Amino acid sequence: MNPTSQVPPNPVSTWNEYFQSTRPMPLHPLFGELEPYLPQTGRAADLGCGVGHAVVWLAEKGWDIDAFDGHEEALKSLGERLFAETRSKVATHHCLLQDASLAHGQYDLIIAAYSLFFLTPEQHQVVWNRIYAALKPGGYFLGEFLGVNDDWADQMTTHTAEQVTELLSRYETIYREDVDRDGFVSMGSPKHWHVFHVIARKPV
Ligand SMILES: C[S@@+](CC[C@H](N)C(=O)[O-])C[C@H]1O[C@@H](n2cnc3c(N)ncnc32)[C@H](O)[C@@H]1O
Repeated sequence: MNPTSQVPPNPVSTWNEYFQSTRPMPLHPLFGELEPYLPQTGRAADLGCGVGHAVVWLAEKGWDIDAFDGHEEALKSLGERLFAETRSKVATHHCLLQDASLAHGQYDLIIAAYSLFFLTPEQHQVVWNRIYAALKPGGYFLGEFLGVNDDWADQMTTHTAEQVTELLSRYETIYREDVDRDGFVSMGSPKHWHVFHVIARKPV
């Protein structure tokens, strides 16, 4: 990766502290909503995989995964959690999401969990279009968009509920939860979350 190209700063702590805090956490419940729809195996991409909870989960099911992250420490942490059988299922890509090359029509599932909103609005639009192109017909997208009421709204790319509906207009929405409430970050400090959890399917 070009050493001058960096992942944007973590809004709460250093990225390393953030990764450490998320390592012991369970898989996000949104994956439980996805599971009944998933084929037994397939090919997935995880954009901004972090310490790789979803990557490990899919690899243990026998999926092949391209895991992308701009932070070396995230990929190192993921590597430490893979064992012989699962290691061979995962290809890691140390690159920025806006530079990630995604083969057209190749993926049964693309994950962008809490990662797209770190992109600028222009990059977000480009990557969002690439995700659609990279999915197979019938493939699934799972991820989050950040809402305008979020505490991080002034530092990140946000969307209104209507804009999220527009982003999903080419898809069949399988699951959507609009959250606008006080909560906490993984490191424990309080935060107002305005986030849209989404699972969507590209039409066949
Ligand atoms: C909030 S974390 C989420 C990690 C993981 N998806 C999860 O849900 O646990 C965001 C991740 O996206 C990565 N990231 C953020 N902006 C990025 C960019 N522009 N290019 C590549 N990776 C990026 C960070 O390094 C981090 O691992």
